[in-house]
Amino acid sequence: MRAADIDAVVAAEQDIYDFPWTRGNFTDSLAAGYSAWCLTENGRLVGYAVMMLALDEAHLLNLSVLPEARRRGHASGLLRHLFAVARGRGATRMLLEVRPSNESGRGLYAHFGFTTIGERRGYYQAHDGRESALVMALDL
Ligand SMILES: CC(C)(COP(=O)(O)OP(=O)(O)OC[C@H]1O[C@@H](n2cnc3c(N)ncnc32)[C@H](O)[C@@H]1OP(=O)(O)O)[C@@H](O)C(=O)NCCC(=O)NCCS
Repeated sequence: MRAADIDAVVAAEQDIYDFPWTRGNFTDSLAAGYSAWCLTENGRLVGYAVMMLALDEAHLLNLSVLPEARRRGHASGLLRHLFAVARGRGATRMLLEVRPSNESGRGLYAHFGFTTIGERRGYYQAHDGRESALVMALDL
């Protein structure tokens, strides 16, 4: 993901999420040197991911596939790429947060063998207040 990709990423993010990341979240991620990737098909954005690497841990901060491109293995491809990048940078574990109500996200992470290791209460904004996050982890 480069600065030139941010317009398309922000537009997709706003389509996908009720509480989307802001443009600033993406530009800050690039400025901080996070591992950020766009997946394109015939030149069009179909997915993107942002991961923070710190010592031996990789923290998956955003993984999204556009609605019309889902269930075709794009998230799986992005995740496998992130695993390779993380391992290459010395990470031995990947962590992420997911909403308990997010069936596609939970389905994807279960498919890859992530297990729930904890819960962060009130982590996410929700329409009726706050929603907890499940913390999931996978040994790399
Ligand atoms: C979650 C998401 C990234 C999955 O993207 P995708 O490209 O459709 O995923 P894949 O095609 O690689 O799916 C791989 C596996 O994940 C699981 N999975 C994917 N979508 C699922 C769903 N809606 N329900 C249950 N399991 C699902 C399945 O096991 C699937 O394998 P299968 O298709 O052979 O059954 C996508 O639905 C998305 O962007 N959702 C909104 C954003 C989001 O919630 N991101 C995760 C936030 S933590």
